[in-house]
Amino acid sequence: MFFSFSTIRPIFNWTAIIFTLIFGIHYWLNHKSYVFDEKSIAALSRKYVVGPDSNISTAYAKVLEGLRAKYTGHILPDQDLQWIFMNAGGWMGSMCLLHASLTEYVLFFGTAVDTTGHSGRYWANISDTILTGTFYQWQEGSLTRTVYKPGDTVFHGMGEATAVSWTAGTWMVEYGRGFIPSTLFFALADSFTSTTDFLTVFYIIKVYIKAMFLEVMFYIGDFRQLIKDSL
Ligand SMILES: *[C@@H]1O[C@H](CO)[C@@H](O)[C@H](O)[C@H]1NC(C)=O
Ligand SMILES: *[C@@H]1O[C@H](CO)[C@@H](O)[C@H](O)[C@H]1NC(C)=O
Repeated sequence: MFFSFSTIRPIFNWTAIIFTLIFGIHYWLNHKSYVFDEKSIAALSRKYVVGPDSNISTAYAKVLEGLRAKYTGHILPDQDLQWIFMNAGGWMGSMCLLHASLTEYVLFFGTAVDTTGHSGRYWANISDTILTGTFYQWQEGSLTRTVYKPGDTVFHGMGEATAVSWTAGTWMVEYGRGFIPSTLFFALADSFTSTTDFLTVFYIIKVYIKAMFLEVMFYIGDFRQLIKDSL
């Protein structure tokens, strides 16, 4: 007898804790209410689809204006918006985070060069609406790729993995819904194991904290208003 019950018990306890957490988060994700939804983000983005020779900065500025009008208090202010390189799954892109909480995020994403790699498997549903450029998706188990053009929305379901490829000058609006901290592991993995670009790691963590802080302030403001109204 190599294992006595006292050596197994901590393993048993930890397994129970992890399972409870996973079920708890899963239940919460399926029952909580959300600020954004995939259809509204896609519909708003589609209005600003641009041709390859147009100025994407101008299009993004309009999407940003639309989001700020519709989701007041949930979009980071201009001084916190920053284009940050992102290396993950072998590809390289750039993102500009607009909103993030524990369960949702909205960001601009794209690349100025051709890039290809693994999509990552996430504990989140992710949808991307293309403003300009081309996005190729190769589904697991398939022998062909799907081509997405400006105005299309690409859906990446929870737990799925695909091969992804963007042509130079592809820019899109991305919405993620799920357990967002879990997606950070993938977002940061290449920075640790390949590029060792820790300044980028710092930028990503910094902007995520700022976005979370904005959400906390929003709900504190809401709560104070509620107290005021009921006095
Ligand atoms: C696009 O517009 C921005 C301002 O909105 C400007 O700073 C930038 O130079 C323009 N880019 C091109 C390629 O015209
Ligand atoms: C993710 O997408 C699937 C399929 O559309 C849906 O059934 C599920 O509820 C979504 N999960 C969340 C957390 O929105």
